[in-house]
Amino acid sequence: MEAEATVSSTPAIESTEPAVTMPPVDLGPVHVTTPVVLSPMAGVTNWPFRVLCEEYGPDGLYVAEMITARALVARNPKALRLCRFAPSEKIRSLQLYGVSPAIVEMAARIVVDEHMADHVDLNFGCPVPKVTRRGGGSALPWKTELFREIIRRVVKVCAPENIPVTAKIRVGIDHEHETFLEAGRIAQEEGCAAVTLHARTTAEYYGGHSDWSRIGELVDELDIPVFGNGDIWSAEDALAMVRQTGCAGVAIGRGCQGRPWLFADLKNAFAGSPERVNPTLGEVGQVMMRHATLLTEFYDGDETMAVHDLRKHVAWYLKGFPVGGGTRRAFMECENLEDVRRRIDELDPSIPFPEAAEGKPRGRVRYAKKVHLPYGWLDSQELTEEQRRDVISADPLDASY
Ligand SMILES: Cc1cc2nc3c(=O)[nH]c(=O)nc-3n(C[C@H](O)[C@H](O)[C@H](O)COP(=O)(O)O)c2cc1C
Repeated sequence: MEAEATVSSTPAIESTEPAVTMPPVDLGPVHVTTPVVLSPMAGVTNWPFRVLCEEYGPDGLYVAEMITARALVARNPKALRLCRFAPSEKIRSLQLYGVSPAIVEMAARIVVDEHMADHVDLNFGCPVPKVTRRGGGSALPWKTELFREIIRRVVKVCAPENIPVTAKIRVGIDHEHETFLEAGRIAQEEGCAAVTLHARTTAEYYGGHSDWSRIGELVDELDIPVFGNGDIWSAEDALAMVRQTGCAGVAIGRGCQGRPWLFADLKNAFAGSPERVNPTLGEVGQVMMRHATLLTEFYDGDETMAVHDLRKHVAWYLKGFPVGGGTRRAFMECENLEDVRRRIDELDPSIPFPEAAEGKPRGRVRYAKKVHLPYGWLDSQELTEEQRRDVISADPLDASY
């Protein structure tokens, strides 16, 4: 592995808010010293990115992107690649997605029998039409008995090996069909070690601002830890969420795209320190190069695949920096590590981190046009025999975001 990229500039920030120091969270035997979660993101949180985040903010929980249960059961090579961890990862955390209880159970059995992970998260939050149309992701908790059955089966498989199971949910399908309080209660009853709430409905998709008051409601409702999720773009946002909701920890997705050092800020913030990281463009270049190198390892030495994967990250890394369109396009045309290195060498290393990019939304930000659901899904919270047959037979092989 290439030497760790470090980011040196860490000016302190002034705050008038009282300091918050966050106690660790235990998920069964899994001790999360700093209760900060890298929220699973398909196409983003593979091990190279997780390793970068963990290097900046050790002691959190860094979840792999969702693995489609059926694909794992079918031993799909892409799914198996996503199940890999780097030796440095302290807690190996996998997320499973599926609609069929039997298939999700089989996938969990593989994870357990083959010692693939230390923690299993279950995805009940995905809003993409491809998934909700089949009754999966955020559409699923509406069918309370199906939701319960999946959790029960997975917990049953994981419990003997002391592998904690958690559930990631949304507020509901829309405000007329909210599910989070009931889903949280069911998850707790069935033995989940924690719940993460992305405080939006499926209909809200990624639009507007998530409603953190819903996180507070869930915290009041449950005894198990609740991780709050949605629109944390800076350590200050994380502190604000904790103050407002009383959540045990926070989960961050888009805010760390192109900013793995946000985990250093979060660790500092949760330890009551005002130190924050603001890398220069030269330092960001080093992180990009290291990311490209790790991705090459992830793709078993295939530099082209690595560099293609890096493209979206480059756009995020350069966000807000005064780097022209020509340079950005040149990064998109890189085909190997040497190309990337050359492009990075052409950047002006002294450019400071742009204030305009600090603590601002990044990545997806739009509302759903329409929620896609199986026929008659909202008519009742009970799953009809016909719906059960349909959603189970349609459980996909690939359901990435
Ligand atoms: C590109 C992308 C991929 C995502 N993939 C997953 C996933 O695989 N599993 C999951 O539970 N959530 C996934 N999410 C949702 C995030 O984990 C997170 O809940 C959401 O982005 C809200 O948090 P944020 O405001 O911090 O980004 C994804 C989000 C994005 C933007």
